[in-house]
This record gives sequence, C-alpha cells and structure tokens, in this order.
Amino acid sequence: MRTTTTSLAGVLSAAALFLAACGGGEGAEASGGSGSGSEGGEGRALRLALNQTEQHPSYLALDSFGQRLSEATDDRWSIEVFANETLGAQAEALQLVSSGAVDMAIVSGTQLENLDEDFVVFNLPTVFDSVEQQMSVVNDPDVVGDLYSSLESSENITVVGGFTQGTRSVYTTDGPVETPEDLAGKKMRVQESDLHLSMMEAMGGSPTPLAFGEVYTALQSGVIDGAENNEVSYFTQKHHEVAPFYSRTNHLVGLDYLIINTGVLSEMSEEDRAAFDEEWTAAHEEHTQLWTEATEQAIADAEAAGATFSEVDTDAFNAVLEPLVDEFLTTDSQRALYDAARGN
Ligand code: GCU
Repeated sequence: MRTTTTSLAGVLSAAALFLAACGGGEGAEASGGSGSGSEGGEGRALRLALNQTEQHPSYLALDSFGQRLSEATDDRWSIEVFANETLGAQAEALQLVSSGAVDMAIVSGTQLENLDEDFVVFNLPTVFDSVEQQMSVVNDPDVVGDLYSSLESSENITVVGGFTQGTRSVYTTDGPVETPEDLAGKKMRVQESDLHLSMMEAMGGSPTPLAFGEVYTALQSGVIDGAENNEVSYFTQKHHEVAPFYSRTNHLVGLDYLIINTGVLSEMSEEDRAAFDEEWTAAHEEHTQLWTEATEQAIADAEAAGATFSEVDTDAFNAVLEPLVDEFLTTDSQRALYDAARGN
C-alpha cells in the first residue's frame, strides 16, 4: 500500500534548496565501487538530510559516524549532514533519497508507514516499553532483516537501522493535561501518519498533521494548541517558548530510521560496506548514550526557561491507547513483527 504524501512542488523546491546547498551537485562521483582506493584523491561525500538542529544527539552521532567512516575507508566514503530541514522536510527527503538526489536521510517511522504497512508495527504506542528494548529489537537483523530491505525494489531505499526518539508526551499552550478529557477540542499537531491521527483522536485531541519544521510557528500563531514529542525536540526546536506545559503522557517510544539510496549502497566495495556497517553500529550506540544525557539537559533547560513538566493519569491514557493494537495490526506479517518485538 502506498500513499503519496508529497506534492511534486514540494519535492522540486526541496531539490532546488539541495542544489543551492551543494553547488549544483558536483563532486558526486563515486570512487568506492571498485574498492581500489581513492584514485585521484576523490572520495564520495554522502549527503544526509536531517530535520534536527546541530545540538541534537542525532546530528552529533551522525557527524562522528561520518568522520569514522572516512577514516575507516581512507576517505573513499564520508558523510555530510545537512541539519535543520535544509534539504526539505522528511516527506520530501524520503522522495529525494528514493530518486537518488540525496543519498541518505533520517526519517521517522511514521514516514515509512506510508510506503509499507509493516512499518506501522513499530509506530504503535504499546510496542516498546523502553529505549533499551526498542534498540535491541530494531537493530536485530533476525527481526528486521526483511523489513529493512522491503523498500529496495519499489523505492530504491534501504533501511540501515534505527535511532531512538525517546518517549513522546503531549505539550500545550494553555495549561497542563491530566486526562484525555483535557485534550477535548484542542488542535494537536501529529506526524503525517494514519496511525498517529487515530492515536491523537483516541487520546481526546483533534489531530492536525504538519511537518516538524512548521510546528513552532503553528503553535505561536494559534493554528494549533499543542503537539507531542520527546523532551529533546521540545527544547531544541524551542517549542517550550510557545507551549510551556509538557504533560507526561509517555504515550510511545518513537523511532527514527537511517535510510540510504539502495543504488548508492551497492556501489560500496565489500570492505567499505563492512566498515559502513561497523561504524553505523557504533553510531547508534553512541546515540543511545547521548540520548539520556540530552533528555535530562533538555528538561533542566526548558524548566529554567519557564516550562513545567507534569504527571498525567497514566491509566486513563493507556486505556484509550490499547485498542489501537487490534485496530492497526491487520496482517499476519504485522502480528509476527509485533510478537517478535514484544518477545512473545
Ligand atoms: C522527533 C523525531 C523526528 C520527527 C519529529 C516529528 O523529533 O526524531 O524524526 O520528525 O519527532 O515529530 O516530526
């Protein structure tokens, strides 16, 4: 099942930004395919689209991933991370990786759900109880091997692995939330996903899908009354300035994926591919370590800036979220993935 969420105009404007940012795309010749070293000193810099700031753990871990990859392959391969949606919002970045205009991107699981319904499983509120459980599942080839190659023939996209988004909660412009009733009538931004639209409805709010980069202005102008995200994005995107009430619904542990154009990946020699995989493992491990620290820091910084963090009626939220599992797991392969993730 494929739903196109991106307009051609959006892709073209992102591509224009990309060309402006990269000087017309020159210097993109691959020299890694032969595995024979960097003839003429020309290595291949992989352009990676990210929608976070340069302070975010994902930027930091990807930046050091690139540096280590460069060292490990004698500069045949390196990574240039374009932060802050410079290459477009995630829906555009996904299309650009598919077409090969951009090599890699970090996209939320919600984006991949729009290409293959099996990805819905890891976007469900109840699938992961902790970051540790999530990371062990989403980087285990026995569980995710088929899933991660499932977009190769249709989209030319390979999923490399996952970064945690940590635990997501709601935040609002005008007072804390304690129960689902408190979200009644509130326009709440959600990611562009059918599951998350239903999730927000179940939680009591009126879901409003928007790209990540549009959330600050939408909160500020009153187009929306709230959103949901982890503490790190809440602070690094400055959402606390315009929505200072963060209420700990902890409704899901979110997941980002590193995706790469399949053709580009196949240009790597065996040796370089092994280095890529090894350094990726180090990158997601570093990311998970940075995550805990960044979360504590984000909470302290947001509180110092006047935001409040409050507890909710967790049982009441769990009760409305539970039915989403049966509603959204409709196939045997989805069930099998869900059971594997839950250790059933
Ligand atoms: C998190 C996540 C992003 C995602 C964003 C969102 O910050 O890491 O990948 O785009 O949430 O809510 O859109």
